[in-house]
Amino acid sequence: MTNKGVFDLKGYLTDKKAIVDKALHTYFPQPEGPASDVIRAMRYSLFAGGKRLRPILCMGGSEAVGGSGTDVLPVACSLELIHTYSLIHDDLPVMDDDDLRRGKPTNHKVFGEAVAMLAGDGLLTEAFHLITAEELSDHIPPRAILKVVRMIARAAGYGGMVGGQVVDIQWEGKTADFPVVEYIHTHKTGAMITASVTSGAMLAGGDKSQLQAITSYGEKIGLAFQIADDILDIVGDSEAMGKTAGADEQKGKMTYPSVLGLEKSKKMQSELVNSAVDSLKEFDRGAEPLRQIAQYVIERKK
Ligand code: IPE
Ligand code: IPE
Ligand code: MG
Ligand code: MG
Ligand code: MG
Repeated sequence: MTNKGVFDLKGYLTDKKAIVDKALHTYFPQPEGPASDVIRAMRYSLFAGGKRLRPILCMGGSEAVGGSGTDVLPVACSLELIHTYSLIHDDLPVMDDDDLRRGKPTNHKVFGEAVAMLAGDGLLTEAFHLITAEELSDHIPPRAILKVVRMIARAAGYGGMVGGQVVDIQWEGKTADFPVVEYIHTHKTGAMITASVTSGAMLAGGDKSQLQAITSYGEKIGLAFQIADDILDIVGDSEAMGKTAGADEQKGKMTYPSVLGLEKSKKMQSELVNSAVDSLKEFDRGAEPLRQIAQYVIERKK
């Protein structure tokens, strides 16, 4: 907040990103010992940049229900580990075969495919090591932590991100089909975004109706986020995005613009954002970051 009480989203995102980056540095091991190659590869992608949106949403979820945001920091960071793993694997030649990520050569380009695959595996498993860190149970009931572990595991796995990714790959080059692209987007991207914001609210003690509202918010911005990613792939700038534009059309990806066209996709993302903000109408100023992040999701340039 500024001293005038006007919420400053840019400052909020910058501050939260700095908190997450600092925490990741303290949690994450240095490359040493016989496994140092894989640790180096994990660190390479983790610290290559990235908006840290999922950890920020987790902290925003906590703040929306009266938490401090930093009370959920280990879980927030664990979401970034899972997300980074998903990017490393997404870029592999057997998946999207991309060369540029977060403004740098992709993990497999630098470390080779075997180490890149294992770096992804290492990040995913390390995430659960971090979520179950003892420091969290000092102030959060273990039962709530257990619930969140289960929710994140489902969101990352076949019922969520992995499920969306497999359908994304299997439908490459096939005829446009709306229910399929909706499934792909809500699963490959929406599930982890929803879990991010909901986990923060859950750990900070949100009640049932608050959690329902936050989940609905997450589902809407999660889908809007991936529609925006599809649109950026067409209209965005590779340098600003840190990844190669135009890749979706080249691979025959099923995207919202490829199924619905650009204009209809833009309209849909705006409707989703409005509806996401509407989901938070019962919340006080503590939810202001989430309200503004909803708009940011579709206005971003990277
Ligand atoms: C990219 O995610 C992959 C998608 C789910 C579209 P982000 O756009 O959040 O990428 P980073 O974390 O900022 O690099
Ligand atoms: C990837 O979707 C979603 C993930 C789960 C990683 P995309 O394949 O569209 O993401 P980008 O465009 O490579 O970042
Ligand atoms: Mg992909
Ligand atoms: Mg990709
Ligand atoms: Mg994309």
